[in-house]
Amino acid sequence: MGSIEILEQKIRSAIDTAESIEDLEVLRVNTLGKKGTLSTPLKRLGSMPKEERKAFGLVLNNLKKHIESLLIEKHKRFKKTMIFQQIERESIDVTLPVRQDPTERGRIHPITQTIDEVITIFSDMGFMIATGPDVETDYYNFTALNFPIGHPARDMHDTFFFNTHENGERKLLRTHTSPVQIRAMEKQKPPIRIVISGKAYRMDSDVTHSPMFHQVEGLVVDSTATIANMMWMLEQFCKTFFEVSSRKIRFRPSFFPFTEPSMEVDIQCDCSSRKVKFGTGHNWMEILGCGMIHPNVLRTCNLDPEIYQGFAWGMGVDRIAMLKYGMPDLRDFFNTDIRWLEHYGFSPLNPST
Ligand code: DAH
Repeated sequence: MGSIEILEQKIRSAIDTAESIEDLEVLRVNTLGKKGTLSTPLKRLGSMPKEERKAFGLVLNNLKKHIESLLIEKHKRFKKTMIFQQIERESIDVTLPVRQDPTERGRIHPITQTIDEVITIFSDMGFMIATGPDVETDYYNFTALNFPIGHPARDMHDTFFFNTHENGERKLLRTHTSPVQIRAMEKQKPPIRIVISGKAYRMDSDVTHSPMFHQVEGLVVDSTATIANMMWMLEQFCKTFFEVSSRKIRFRPSFFPFTEPSMEVDIQCDCSSRKVKFGTGHNWMEILGCGMIHPNVLRTCNLDPEIYQGFAWGMGVDRIAMLKYGMPDLRDFFNTDIRWLEHYGFSPLNPST
Protein backbone atom coordinates (compact mmCIF):
# COMPACT_ATOMS: atom_id res chain seq x y z
CA MET A 1 0.00 0.00 0.00
CA GLY A 2 1.36 3.44 -0.96
CA SER A 3 2.02 6.16 1.59
CA ILE A 4 -1.02 8.17 0.39
CA GLU A 5 -3.36 5.21 0.93
CA ILE A 6 -1.93 4.74 4.43
CA LEU A 7 -2.43 8.42 5.14
CA GLU A 8 -5.98 8.27 3.86
CA GLN A 9 -6.81 5.31 6.02
CA LYS A 10 -5.36 6.99 9.08
CA ILE A 11 -7.41 10.13 8.53
CA ARG A 12 -10.57 8.11 7.82
CA SER A 13 -10.27 6.14 11.04
CA ALA A 14 -9.53 9.36 12.97
CA ILE A 15 -12.76 10.83 11.52
CA ASP A 16 -14.63 7.64 12.43
CA THR A 17 -13.49 7.74 16.02
CA ALA A 18 -14.01 11.51 16.53
CA GLU A 19 -16.45 11.96 19.38
CA SER A 20 -17.44 15.58 19.12
CA ILE A 21 -17.56 18.62 16.87
CA GLU A 22 -14.48 19.89 18.75
CA ASP A 23 -12.57 16.64 17.90
CA LEU A 24 -13.52 17.15 14.24
CA GLU A 25 -12.24 20.71 14.25
CA VAL A 26 -8.88 19.61 15.65
CA LEU A 27 -8.75 16.91 13.00
CA ARG A 28 -9.57 19.36 10.22
CA VAL A 29 -6.75 21.69 11.26
CA ASN A 30 -4.34 18.76 11.63
CA THR A 31 -5.09 17.40 8.15
CA LEU A 32 -6.19 20.28 5.91
CA GLY A 33 -4.54 23.16 7.75
CA LYS A 34 -1.30 24.85 6.59
CA LYS A 35 0.81 22.52 8.65
CA GLY A 36 -1.60 19.58 8.29
CA THR A 37 -0.71 16.05 7.23
CA LEU A 38 -2.00 16.68 3.70
CA SER A 39 0.10 19.78 3.24
CA THR A 40 3.42 17.96 3.74
CA PRO A 41 3.12 15.76 0.59
CA LEU A 42 2.00 18.86 -1.32
CA LYS A 43 5.38 20.42 -0.60
CA ARG A 44 7.05 17.50 -2.41
CA LEU A 45 5.25 18.42 -5.65
CA GLY A 46 7.74 21.15 -6.57
CA SER A 47 10.66 18.72 -6.76
CA MET A 48 8.81 16.17 -8.95
CA PRO A 49 9.07 15.69 -12.69
CA LYS A 50 6.21 17.34 -14.56
CA GLU A 51 4.16 14.21 -15.49
CA GLU A 52 4.49 12.68 -12.03
CA ARG A 53 3.63 16.02 -10.44
CA LYS A 54 0.39 16.19 -12.43
CA ALA A 55 -0.73 12.68 -11.42
CA PHE A 56 0.34 13.08 -7.77
CA GLY A 57 -1.28 16.51 -7.58
CA LEU A 58 -4.54 15.04 -8.85
CA VAL A 59 -4.42 12.23 -6.30
CA LEU A 60 -3.72 14.67 -3.49
CA ASN A 61 -6.48 17.03 -4.61
CA ASN A 62 -9.05 14.24 -4.78
CA LEU A 63 -7.98 13.01 -1.40
CA LYS A 64 -8.32 16.51 0.03
CA LYS A 65 -11.86 16.87 -1.39
CA HIS A 66 -12.76 13.43 -0.14
CA ILE A 67 -11.53 14.16 3.37
CA GLU A 68 -13.34 17.50 3.33
CA SER A 69 -16.62 15.85 2.43
CA LEU A 70 -16.09 13.16 5.09
CA LEU A 71 -15.54 15.89 7.68
CA ILE A 72 -18.65 17.80 6.55
CA GLU A 73 -20.68 14.60 6.60
CA LYS A 74 -19.60 13.72 10.13
CA HIS A 75 -20.14 17.34 11.26
CA LYS A 76 -23.75 17.17 9.99
CA ARG A 77 -24.30 13.92 11.85
CA PHE A 78 -23.05 15.48 15.10
CA LYS A 79 -25.34 18.49 14.59
CA LYS A 80 -28.33 16.25 14.01
CA THR A 81 -27.64 14.23 17.15
CA MET A 82 -27.27 17.46 19.14
CA ILE A 83 -30.64 18.72 17.90
CA PHE A 84 -32.30 15.43 18.82
CA GLN A 85 -30.73 15.55 22.27
CA GLN A 86 -31.95 19.12 22.73
CA ILE A 87 -35.49 18.20 21.66
CA GLU A 88 -35.38 15.31 24.09
CA ARG A 89 -34.20 17.58 26.90
CA GLU A 90 -36.76 20.27 26.25
CA SER A 91 -39.75 18.07 25.58
CA ILE A 92 -42.84 18.48 27.79
CA ASP A 93 -44.92 15.56 28.90
CA VAL A 94 -48.36 16.83 27.95
CA THR A 95 -49.98 13.89 29.72
CA LEU A 96 -48.84 15.21 33.12
CA PRO A 97 -51.63 16.95 35.11
CA VAL A 98 -51.32 20.75 34.90
CA ARG A 99 -50.31 22.45 38.15
CA GLN A 100 -53.33 24.43 39.41
CA ASP A 101 -53.19 28.17 38.96
CA PRO A 102 -53.26 30.06 42.31
CA THR A 103 -56.43 31.85 41.20
CA GLU A 104 -58.09 28.46 40.81
CA ARG A 105 -56.91 27.12 44.17
CA GLY A 106 -57.88 30.18 46.19
CA ARG A 107 -61.35 30.24 47.70
CA ILE A 108 -63.64 33.08 48.67
CA HIS A 109 -64.71 32.73 52.30
CA PRO A 110 -68.48 32.03 52.65
CA ILE A 111 -68.86 35.19 54.74
CA THR A 112 -67.31 37.37 52.04
CA GLN A 113 -69.47 35.58 49.48
CA THR A 114 -72.64 36.14 51.53
CA ILE A 115 -71.84 39.83 52.10
CA ASP A 116 -71.26 40.22 48.35
CA GLU A 117 -74.58 38.54 47.58
CA VAL A 118 -76.54 40.69 50.06
CA ILE A 119 -74.88 43.91 48.96
CA THR A 120 -75.44 43.08 45.29
CA ILE A 121 -79.18 42.60 45.89
CA PHE A 122 -79.51 45.96 47.69
CA SER A 123 -77.22 47.77 45.23
CA ASP A 124 -79.50 46.58 42.45
CA MET A 125 -82.37 48.23 44.36
CA GLY A 126 -80.45 51.53 44.34
CA PHE A 127 -78.73 51.47 47.76
CA MET A 128 -75.31 53.06 48.36
CA ILE A 129 -72.69 51.33 50.55
CA ALA A 130 -71.64 52.91 53.87
CA THR A 131 -69.11 51.88 56.50
CA GLY A 132 -68.10 52.99 59.98
CA PRO A 133 -65.47 52.31 62.68
CA ASP A 134 -65.31 49.08 64.72
CA VAL A 135 -64.18 51.01 67.81
CA GLU A 136 -67.13 53.16 68.79
CA THR A 137 -68.24 55.55 71.47
CA ASP A 138 -71.07 54.80 73.85
CA TYR A 139 -72.94 57.67 72.18
CA TYR A 140 -73.05 56.14 68.68
CA ASN A 141 -73.46 52.54 69.80
CA PHE A 142 -76.21 53.20 72.35
CA THR A 143 -77.32 56.71 73.34
CA ALA A 144 -77.97 58.09 69.86
CA LEU A 145 -79.85 54.90 69.05
CA ASN A 146 -82.29 55.61 71.86
CA PHE A 147 -80.82 53.23 74.44
CA PRO A 148 -81.28 55.36 77.58
CA ILE A 149 -78.48 55.09 80.15
CA GLY A 150 -79.30 52.24 82.52
CA HIS A 151 -81.80 50.68 80.08
CA PRO A 152 -81.71 46.83 80.25
CA ALA A 153 -81.34 46.64 76.42
CA ARG A 154 -77.75 47.85 76.89
CA ASP A 155 -76.90 44.86 79.08
CA MET A 156 -78.31 42.47 76.48
CA HIS A 157 -75.46 43.45 74.18
CA ASP A 158 -72.63 41.87 76.28
CA THR A 159 -70.32 44.69 75.31
CA PHE A 160 -66.51 44.62 75.18
CA PHE A 161 -65.42 47.90 76.81
CA PHE A 162 -61.98 49.49 76.62
CA ASN A 163 -60.37 50.98 79.72
CA THR A 164 -61.72 54.40 80.60
CA HIS A 165 -59.68 57.21 79.06
CA GLU A 166 -58.36 59.99 81.34
CA ASN A 167 -60.97 62.32 79.80
CA GLY A 168 -63.63 59.99 81.27
CA GLU A 169 -64.64 58.47 77.93
CA ARG A 170 -64.91 54.71 77.70
CA LYS A 171 -64.77 53.37 74.15
CA LEU A 172 -66.17 50.00 73.12
CA LEU A 173 -66.17 47.52 70.27
CA ARG A 174 -69.41 48.18 68.44
CA THR A 175 -72.04 45.58 69.32
CA HIS A 176 -73.91 46.08 66.04
CA THR A 177 -73.57 47.99 62.76
CA SER A 178 -76.47 50.31 63.67
CA PRO A 179 -74.17 53.19 64.83
CA VAL A 180 -73.34 53.70 61.15
CA GLN A 181 -76.98 54.74 60.68
CA ILE A 182 -76.38 57.68 63.03
CA ARG A 183 -73.11 58.61 61.33
CA ALA A 184 -74.87 58.56 57.94
CA MET A 185 -77.83 60.68 59.10
CA GLU A 186 -75.44 63.23 60.65
CA LYS A 187 -73.47 63.55 57.43
CA GLN A 188 -76.09 63.33 54.75
CA LYS A 189 -79.46 65.00 54.14
CA PRO A 190 -82.37 62.72 53.13
CA PRO A 191 -83.20 60.98 50.90
CA ILE A 192 -80.84 58.35 52.31
CA ARG A 193 -80.67 54.80 51.02
CA ILE A 194 -77.66 52.94 52.38
CA VAL A 195 -76.54 49.42 53.05
CA ILE A 196 -73.87 48.87 55.71
CA SER A 197 -71.73 45.80 56.21
CA GLY A 198 -69.10 45.14 58.84
CA LYS A 199 -67.98 43.35 61.96
CA ALA A 200 -69.66 43.50 65.35
CA TYR A 201 -68.51 42.17 68.73
CA ARG A 202 -70.20 40.66 71.77
CA MET A 203 -69.00 38.52 74.66
CA ASP A 204 -70.63 35.31 73.49
CA SER A 205 -69.36 32.00 72.12
CA ASP A 206 -71.20 28.79 71.23
CA VAL A 207 -72.36 26.85 68.14
CA THR A 208 -74.33 29.82 66.83
CA HIS A 209 -72.41 32.73 68.43
CA SER A 210 -68.88 33.99 68.10
CA PRO A 211 -67.38 37.04 69.90
CA MET A 212 -66.78 38.65 66.49
CA PHE A 213 -69.48 38.32 63.86
CA HIS A 214 -70.77 40.14 60.79
CA GLN A 215 -73.85 42.18 60.13
CA VAL A 216 -75.47 43.81 57.15
CA GLU A 217 -77.73 46.70 57.90
CA GLY A 218 -79.94 48.96 55.80
CA LEU A 219 -81.36 52.43 56.23
CA VAL A 220 -83.94 54.40 54.25
CA VAL A 221 -84.88 57.96 55.21
CA ASP A 222 -87.05 60.31 53.21
CA SER A 223 -90.42 62.00 53.63
CA THR A 224 -92.59 59.16 52.33
CA ALA A 225 -90.93 55.81 53.21
CA THR A 226 -93.61 53.58 54.72
CA ILE A 227 -93.76 50.28 56.57
CA ALA A 228 -95.34 48.76 53.43
CA ASN A 229 -92.27 49.79 51.40
CA MET A 230 -90.07 48.11 53.99
CA MET A 231 -92.06 44.88 54.03
CA TRP A 232 -92.13 44.66 50.25
CA MET A 233 -88.42 45.33 49.98
CA LEU A 234 -87.46 42.75 52.62
CA GLU A 235 -89.69 40.19 50.93
CA GLN A 236 -87.93 40.82 47.64
CA PHE A 237 -84.61 40.44 49.39
CA CYS A 238 -85.56 37.11 51.00
CA LYS A 239 -86.91 35.69 47.75
CA THR A 240 -83.73 36.62 45.89
CA PHE A 241 -81.24 35.65 48.59
CA PHE A 242 -82.82 32.33 49.60
CA GLU A 243 -83.91 31.59 46.03
CA VAL A 244 -87.58 30.94 46.79
CA SER A 245 -90.20 32.16 44.35
CA SER A 246 -93.31 32.76 46.45
CA ARG A 247 -93.90 34.68 49.65
CA LYS A 248 -92.70 32.45 52.48
CA ILE A 249 -91.80 34.95 55.20
CA ARG A 250 -93.62 36.37 58.21
CA PHE A 251 -93.24 39.55 60.25
CA ARG A 252 -93.43 39.22 64.05
CA PRO A 253 -93.66 42.10 66.54
CA SER A 254 -90.44 42.67 68.45
CA PHE A 255 -88.53 45.35 70.30
CA PHE A 256 -85.50 47.47 69.38
CA PRO A 257 -84.99 50.85 71.08
CA PHE A 258 -84.20 52.58 67.77
CA THR A 259 -87.31 51.48 65.85
CA GLU A 260 -91.03 51.86 66.50
CA PRO A 261 -92.80 49.67 65.60
CA SER A 262 -90.16 46.93 65.58
CA MET A 263 -90.41 43.55 63.93
CA GLU A 264 -88.50 40.39 63.28
CA VAL A 265 -88.66 38.48 60.02
CA ASP A 266 -88.87 34.69 59.93
CA ILE A 267 -88.46 32.56 56.84
CA GLN A 268 -90.42 29.35 56.33
CA CYS A 269 -88.21 26.30 56.20
CA ASP A 270 -87.89 22.59 56.62
CA CYS A 271 -85.32 21.81 59.31
CA SER A 272 -85.93 18.04 59.39
CA SER A 273 -82.68 17.26 57.55
CA ARG A 274 -79.21 18.66 58.18
CA LYS A 275 -79.39 21.01 55.22
CA VAL A 276 -82.26 23.46 55.81
CA LYS A 277 -84.75 23.78 52.90
CA PHE A 278 -86.35 27.17 52.44
CA GLY A 279 -89.86 27.97 51.23
CA THR A 280 -91.39 24.68 52.43
CA GLY A 281 -91.88 22.79 55.70
CA HIS A 282 -93.32 23.55 59.12
CA ASN A 283 -90.50 25.52 60.73
CA TRP A 284 -89.77 29.25 60.88
CA MET A 285 -86.27 30.63 61.21
CA GLU A 286 -85.58 34.18 62.38
CA ILE A 287 -83.34 36.02 59.92
CA LEU A 288 -83.49 39.74 60.59
CA GLY A 289 -84.76 42.60 62.70
CA CYS A 290 -86.37 45.74 61.29
CA GLY A 291 -88.71 48.62 61.97
CA MET A 292 -89.63 52.25 61.41
CA ILE A 293 -86.96 54.64 62.69
CA HIS A 294 -87.86 55.92 66.16
CA PRO A 295 -88.62 59.69 66.18
CA ASN A 296 -86.06 60.13 68.99
CA VAL A 297 -83.32 58.80 66.68
CA LEU A 298 -84.32 61.21 63.90
CA ARG A 299 -84.34 64.11 66.36
CA THR A 300 -80.89 63.17 67.67
CA CYS A 301 -79.62 63.47 64.09
CA ASN A 302 -81.31 66.86 63.65
CA LEU A 303 -84.00 65.49 61.36
CA ASP A 304 -87.55 66.67 62.04
CA PRO A 305 -89.81 63.59 62.52
CA GLU A 306 -92.74 65.69 61.29
CA ILE A 307 -91.01 65.88 57.91
CA TYR A 308 -88.86 62.81 57.71
CA GLN A 309 -89.52 59.15 58.32
CA GLY A 310 -87.85 55.93 57.37
CA PHE A 311 -87.04 52.36 58.16
CA ALA A 312 -84.05 50.21 58.99
CA TRP A 313 -83.18 46.56 59.23
CA GLY A 314 -80.23 44.47 60.30
CA MET A 315 -79.18 40.86 60.03
CA GLY A 316 -76.40 38.52 61.07
CA VAL A 317 -74.39 37.58 57.99
CA ASP A 318 -72.85 34.52 59.63
CA ARG A 319 -76.27 33.23 60.56
CA ILE A 320 -77.81 33.59 57.09
CA ALA A 321 -74.64 32.10 55.53
CA MET A 322 -74.97 29.06 57.83
CA LEU A 323 -78.62 28.71 56.88
CA LYS A 324 -78.16 29.12 53.16
CA TYR A 325 -75.07 26.94 52.79
CA GLY A 326 -75.86 24.32 55.45
CA MET A 327 -72.94 24.81 57.84
CA PRO A 328 -73.49 23.31 61.28
CA ASP A 329 -71.06 25.27 63.48
CA LEU A 330 -70.45 29.02 63.29
CA ARG A 331 -67.04 28.71 64.91
CA ASP A 332 -65.70 26.85 61.84
CA PHE A 333 -65.93 30.16 59.96
CA PHE A 334 -63.03 31.50 61.99
CA ASN A 335 -60.85 28.41 62.49
CA THR A 336 -58.74 29.14 59.39
CA ASP A 337 -58.83 25.46 58.41
CA ILE A 338 -57.81 25.36 54.75
CA ARG A 339 -59.65 22.04 54.17
CA TRP A 340 -62.87 23.59 55.45
CA LEU A 341 -62.34 26.56 53.14
CA GLU A 342 -61.66 24.29 50.18
CA HIS A 343 -64.96 22.53 50.88
CA TYR A 344 -67.23 25.46 51.74
CA GLY A 345 -65.42 28.30 49.93
CA PHE A 346 -66.36 29.73 46.55
CA SER A 347 -64.33 29.78 43.38
CA PRO A 348 -63.37 33.39 42.56
CA LEU A 349 -63.79 32.75 38.84
CA ASN A 350 -67.09 30.94 39.18
CA PRO A 351 -68.89 32.25 42.28
CA SER A 352 -71.74 29.74 41.98
CA THR A 353 -69.42 26.84 42.91
N1 DAH B 1 -78.89 46.17 65.64
C1 DAH B 1 -79.79 45.04 65.86
C2 DAH B 1 -79.01 43.93 66.54
O1 DAH B 1 -77.82 43.87 66.42
C3 DAH B 1 -80.34 44.55 64.56
C4 DAH B 1 -81.31 45.52 63.96
C5 DAH B 1 -82.63 45.42 64.28
C6 DAH B 1 -80.88 46.52 63.15
C7 DAH B 1 -83.56 46.31 63.76
C8 DAH B 1 -81.77 47.42 62.61
C9 DAH B 1 -83.13 47.31 62.95
O2 DAH B 1 -81.42 48.42 61.81
O3 DAH B 1 -84.00 48.18 62.43
O4 DAH B 1 -79.60 43.12 67.17
